[in-house]
Amino acid sequence: MAIRFEEEKRIFILETAGSCYQMQADEYGVLLHLYYGRPVKGTTEHLIHHEDVAFSGNPYDLSDYRKYSLDVLPQEFSSCGVGDYREKSVELAYADGSFGLDLRYQSYEIHKGAYKIEGMPAAHDEEGKSETLIIHMKDTVKEVEVDLYYGVFPRQDVITRTAVLRNVGEEKVTLYKMMSANIDFQYGEKDLIYLPGKWGMERKVERTYVNHAAIHLDSRRGTSSHHMNPSVILCDPLAGEDAGECYSFQLVYSGGFQISVQKDQRGTIRLCGGIQPDQFVWQLNAGESFIAPQAVLCYSSDGLGSLSRKLHRFVNKHICRGIYMKKKRPILINNWEATYFDFNLEKLTGIAASAAELGIEMMVLDDGWFGKRNNDKCGLGDWFVNEEKLGGSMGALAEKINQMGMKFGLWFEPEMISEDSDLYRAHPDWALTQPGRKPNLGRSQMVLDMGRQEVRDYLFEQISSILKSANISYVKWDMNRSISDAYSAALPVDRQGEVYHRFVLGTYDLMERITSAFPEIMIEGCSGGGGRYDLGIMYYSPQIWCSDNTDAINRTSIQYGSSLFYPISTVGSHVSVCPNHQTRRVVPFHTRAVVAMAGSFGYEMDLQKLSEEEKEQVREQVRLYHKYYDLVHEGDYYRLTAPGKASFMAWEIVSEDKKEALVSVVITEIEGNRCPRWIQIKGLDPEMQYELEDGSVHYGSDLMYAGLPVAPALKEYEACQIYLKALI
Ligand code: GLA
Repeated sequence: MAIRFEEEKRIFILETAGSCYQMQADEYGVLLHLYYGRPVKGTTEHLIHHEDVAFSGNPYDLSDYRKYSLDVLPQEFSSCGVGDYREKSVELAYADGSFGLDLRYQSYEIHKGAYKIEGMPAAHDEEGKSETLIIHMKDTVKEVEVDLYYGVFPRQDVITRTAVLRNVGEEKVTLYKMMSANIDFQYGEKDLIYLPGKWGMERKVERTYVNHAAIHLDSRRGTSSHHMNPSVILCDPLAGEDAGECYSFQLVYSGGFQISVQKDQRGTIRLCGGIQPDQFVWQLNAGESFIAPQAVLCYSSDGLGSLSRKLHRFVNKHICRGIYMKKKRPILINNWEATYFDFNLEKLTGIAASAAELGIEMMVLDDGWFGKRNNDKCGLGDWFVNEEKLGGSMGALAEKINQMGMKFGLWFEPEMISEDSDLYRAHPDWALTQPGRKPNLGRSQMVLDMGRQEVRDYLFEQISSILKSANISYVKWDMNRSISDAYSAALPVDRQGEVYHRFVLGTYDLMERITSAFPEIMIEGCSGGGGRYDLGIMYYSPQIWCSDNTDAINRTSIQYGSSLFYPISTVGSHVSVCPNHQTRRVVPFHTRAVVAMAGSFGYEMDLQKLSEEEKEQVREQVRLYHKYYDLVHEGDYYRLTAPGKASFMAWEIVSEDKKEALVSVVITEIEGNRCPRWIQIKGLDPEMQYELEDGSVHYGSDLMYAGLPVAPALKEYEACQIYLKALI
């Protein structure tokens, strides 16, 4: 049993292979957080300490007992306006203007399997190994109930959480904030690791000591954003790749979010995360409820590397869906950097033919094939094939590509509308704009009101008819701006604060409809590269274009940051031309392929322009991609270096049975009078002997503990792959 309830003490115990989570409904019905960490045998109520803390008040019903204060006790879901001055899990107001929420325990339920969240992505469990706990809470005065959900995935040491708030009274309730989860770490020093960034340079890694200054990591952009990923790690300040306690917290959500972390007066660290409360106001009429997006927690006592590997397995098994989780993904060629908007049938078929000849398996037609879309100022929303530009129908183009032995894929940007489009001329009110105010434009485009059913129906009809008209195996689903002017012409005045979240729900609804209607089509998510690189999108698309920046050297750090939380199978990664279009840097062709192979591999260039020697290299890269496919997609990922810490980046993938490993090394910096470069390989079997491609044989122990000098002859930006095979 992953979930137990100790009736007498009213303690809930959630157990996974390597973690334990305990909470107690105390004698007053307050749900206290007791413990989260390595497995323990007993119950941990002894950690709760009641003390008289001045200026931390006491609930009225306990006014004679000054040692009880909600302001200092560790809680599962923090209250509102009744004496806990720390971060709130909920903010609301009742019809009489009051705003208190003081939740007390009522009852619980335990179920086999994973819980679903209607209309939103959530971790799934086909094997039925997980369990769900629902704890029912109720306010002491008002007719408001909150159900706290806990999903326990024992094998991956993951606990998922969400919360539902129900208005069971007669009066209206207005919600201003509704977090997915609150976790109070009662004691202990912690570092916070998080992933800030910007377009073209996503998911850098920052680490800071958690003190009394409040940290609010967030996106107010209506999307999870390039600028801050909805994922954090709290860890022991001494924790590193291979040692130390670490806890991750991630949202299965693609909209604006907030994750707050702060140490309180007694040293308790509160982590609270969910939907961005800025511009969020949600009306709950009698009988209505609101459900927060899911949060995923994972624990490791063995450092960041082990935490990442648990998350990688969890995401591959319990977040991503679809046939391409098992089926081999084709190597693709995308025409974007080769042509941008400037293409015709001849150019496309020329690129496709050269790709087919080199062993590439799918041609993806990017932006510019619909409406009058010959630049990025117009056409979004007009999902009609530009047959003049394509020299015929989409079906005919797909057929030509198929005849070359390749699959065919197509780009869409469903959630957007250009001012210069037939769609906008017919339905100006479908764009999110404020009355009487010209909207802020991003890439010259506006955002569709995805909360409206008729908008989604239009998109579904248009996209479906194109997908049915041709043999399409893949869709690149793009989203190229941050949202502003979040005002809907279809909602009343008091519901405008719902627009941002309704947008996300509407997008999920459309993604669900498309993926259900076309289950054999693989969707690759994209938002100007990695602007929506989150677990919500991964539920619909098993890979996401990781960044618009294809510079291999920058990519090593973007992919490093991504790997903290996301498996490399989700990383869309392509070989592109040099000088690179984003950085102008020149990097050897081989290096570009080594970096792209640490992801879902493809090309983004005009292969016709390659020299014979480069073409030969592509053939070799394709061969290696197939050779290493199972290892890359199913193996365990190890980070061997960190950006800026060494003059090279190295990473490794080891098969589950430890009989194969692939180490990749990229020289990121060169210096005079340089020192030898060393790596200690990880994750091997110390007793096994491994043969390297140069014929040398070493014990796993020797490669892991003594290490290996690497690439002494490599020059700046050069790379190598070291393949190890066990001698058995
Ligand atoms: C975004 C994507 C690119 C490309 C363009 C097309 O920037 O990230 O890969 O698809 O849109 O306009």
